[in-house]
Amino acid sequence: MTYGNFPGARPRRLRTTPAMRRMVAEHRLHPADLILPAFVREGATAPVPISAMPGVVQHTRDSLRKAAVEALSAGVSGIMLFGVPDEAKKDALGTAGTDPDGILQVALRDVRAEVGDDLVIMSDLCLDEFTDHGHCGVLDSAGRVDNDATLERYAEMAQVQADAGAHVVGPSGMMDGQVGVVRDALDQTGHEDVSILAYTAKYSSAFYGPFREAVGSSLKGDRKTYQQDPANLRESLRELALDLSEGADMVMVKPAMPYLDVLAKIADEVDVPVAAYQISGEYAMVEAAAEKGWIDRDKAILETLTGIKRAGANMILTYWATEVARGL
Ligand code: PBG
Repeated sequence: MTYGNFPGARPRRLRTTPAMRRMVAEHRLHPADLILPAFVREGATAPVPISAMPGVVQHTRDSLRKAAVEALSAGVSGIMLFGVPDEAKKDALGTAGTDPDGILQVALRDVRAEVGDDLVIMSDLCLDEFTDHGHCGVLDSAGRVDNDATLERYAEMAQVQADAGAHVVGPSGMMDGQVGVVRDALDQTGHEDVSILAYTAKYSSAFYGPFREAVGSSLKGDRKTYQQDPANLRESLRELALDLSEGADMVMVKPAMPYLDVLAKIADEVDVPVAAYQISGEYAMVEAAAEKGWIDRDKAILETLTGIKRAGANMILTYWATEVARGL
């Protein structure tokens, strides 16, 4: 008998049973890979659903505390907080973002009091939630986002967020020099141990859509003069080099799924932990298709997260963090 035409190599042998597939899996999701982004709304007396993100809410101070405890007991490693101030407190400078009693600072203190150091507590360091024009920085007289004036605001934000108990601050405004200024501000105010998770490659994306509802953003126009052009990969390496030289402890790519090549490239280059942020629109896409019965929700969620991990992320920010961690 000659079987010369049959394959000499049979990769399918390693796919024969669930146990075999599990054994040879190259990547595994672990609850500790996951970080939960969470919104807290000033003055809310009950959690407010976000219509474009079914299952996600703007928390009250109490429900946020509970969400942090649930995330912790599911094994999630961190929580990233976003504050939603009273509409009346928004102004051109985003003053509520640097008020020690602003909603984000209050929430940081609440969560720190609740979970201590058991969960890594992170804060979004950006002005868009707090400005009446909705931009991530302050504007000059011509209405453009003023880079260096914004840096001064970020320095102040870093200090109040660290004072309020953030273990990690996440500068996300894509201003030039933001990581360096935040590092200096932290060091000069006795917060040498507070880390910086730099939003290194943050693209100007249509997938932020649902987030704008989540934080009640009043943005008109776009963020194309500061967030990156989706067409560019090399530019993200330049941002990476700058962030590392300015003192970033961890770097992040955002959004995740449309930018897995960027994530893979950055993960290849660095010796610091790499995060990916699976953003609001990525969440909404899966939830909406599942609601229509077009895809299997749970399988799709795990597949997206596994793909992000395979591309090189050590940590993933995802609105499904607690649910997925529980199921793992
Ligand atoms: C900026 C910030 C944004 C998100 C996280 N931090 C919005 C933006 O830059 O437009 C988006 C997160 C998401 O869409 O889930 N404060």
